[in-house]
Amino acid sequence: MKKDLKNKRRDFLMNVCPTVAMAFLGITVLESCSSGDDDMDIGGGGNNGGGNNNSNTGYTKNGNTITINLSHSNFNTLQSNGWMNFTAQNMLILKIDNDTYRAFTNSCPHQGTRTAWTYNSSSNRFICNNHGNQYASDCTTAGTGGVLKCYTTSKSGSNLVVTVS
Ligand code: FES
Repeated sequence: MKKDLKNKRRDFLMNVCPTVAMAFLGITVLESCSSGDDDMDIGGGGNNGGGNNNSNTGYTKNGNTITINLSHSNFNTLQSNGWMNFTAQNMLILKIDNDTYRAFTNSCPHQGTRTAWTYNSSSNRFICNNHGNQYASDCTTAGTGGVLKCYTTSKSGSNLVVTVS
């Protein structure tokens, strides 16, 4: 019985994170018990892909939340054209005014094409030039290809926060 308890204690120490195990032994270690990626990456901003996690390219991603620094040069296209295809995070971003932005999936509902988009500011529609389907940018009205999925956005200072769901 006593041996069984000792084995259980040994098994417990073998299975907990090393920091906790060392604490049992009276050793202080400044390290968390995370077992892997904390789902935070930085980089890849712009409208042509990218994905460099080691340099600041204008956005951060934490879980489903993407925070975009709108004043970063990688988002100049958004400011000058009023929209951009942010391919690094598979989204279209549309500027309504200085305080209002919308974000959409860049996967065309028709066949999933992500890179054939244009925007018609007269009709307020995105057009997927793969087969010509059009999608309203109000997040509700169906275009010729249906409704383009819209994400939740909010603006805080120069940051645009997009919740991808
Ligand atoms: S894939 Fe976009 S219109 Fe067909």
